[in-house]
Amino acid sequence: MISKKPNMRVDIGGIELKNPVMTASGTFGYAREFEKLVDLNRLGAIVVKGLSLEPSKGNPPPRIVETPCGMLNAIGLENVGLAAFVKEKLPFLRRLDTPVFVNVYGKRTEEYGELAARLEEVDGVSGIEVNISCPNVKSGGMAFGAYPESAAEVVRVVRKQLTKPLMVKLSPNVTDIAEIAKSVEAEGADSISLINTITGMAIDIETRRPKIANITGGLSGPAIKPVALRMVWQVVQTVKVPVIGIGGIMTAEDALEFLIAGAVAVEVGTANFINPHATVDIIDGIEAFLVRNNISDISDIIATLEV
Ligand SMILES: Cc1cc2nc3c(=O)[nH]c(=O)nc-3n(C[C@H](O)[C@H](O)[C@H](O)COP(=O)(O)O)c2cc1C
Repeated sequence: MISKKPNMRVDIGGIELKNPVMTASGTFGYAREFEKLVDLNRLGAIVVKGLSLEPSKGNPPPRIVETPCGMLNAIGLENVGLAAFVKEKLPFLRRLDTPVFVNVYGKRTEEYGELAARLEEVDGVSGIEVNISCPNVKSGGMAFGAYPESAAEVVRVVRKQLTKPLMVKLSPNVTDIAEIAKSVEAEGADSISLINTITGMAIDIETRRPKIANITGGLSGPAIKPVALRMVWQVVQTVKVPVIGIGGIMTAEDALEFLIAGAVAVEVGTANFINPHATVDIIDGIEAFLVRNNISDISDIIATLEV
């Protein structure tokens, strides 16, 4: 018997994706870099590199180091800035049949507001993913996402400017992730994605210097998957808006764990550096799993964790 293709469509808060597999910001450039490696029209959505109002060179090198089961990076959010993104990167993205989310960050709340206001007006941007893991200059460099109040303030300011879908990306470097999730939902986030990288460190014992110039960096890759899965599961119990799972997803099986935990979609990050075709392999793997298990609709696997 030939099985019918299962329905892979999911809704992530005001926008329907053809499947639940998205790219994670900062690991897929502005997508054109992957044009020859991946059929970009097959992706559920593309999330581009974190964008600030002005261009940024990021941190000095070395900025990336490999660790067992993961990598530490302190790129420092290098990017071309809003104007160059709209002029040089967006025309290519607009031609794709795939929703594009622009990941944004600022050092002040007002910068987030301005980015949202400008992106609201731009054609070809389906929605915004707000990165609240960056330092707030007004509070001595603590990340906006570290406290419910500062996280909520960013979302309030962005929501005022934005009618497009608003996804808020949480930092895992907090005591109570559920509390932060509740605070951003209350300010009007349409969806919540998590996790960003976990702060870590590596030392060269010969030179006794940190292996990355910034001293600390963000840990990503398979090492963080169990933490990410636990946090996604906690947030799913707490909020009503759709949750997007991120962290160490390398295979379809990894992605399925997040879906079963209650994520409606996933973002794939570090895997793109190891296997540039990872996103499409994961889409095919999820579909094969559904067929193998006679599941005709992906919604029948989401949030089916039995405890
Ligand atoms: C090199 C690199 C650059 C990243 N840049 C961004 C960024 O600009 N904005 C952002 O929100 N997250 C950024 N991230 C975090 C990823 O989007 C993702 O949340 C994290 O790496 C965990 O997923 P993974 O284990 O699949 O990589 C970056 C991660 C890496 C490894």
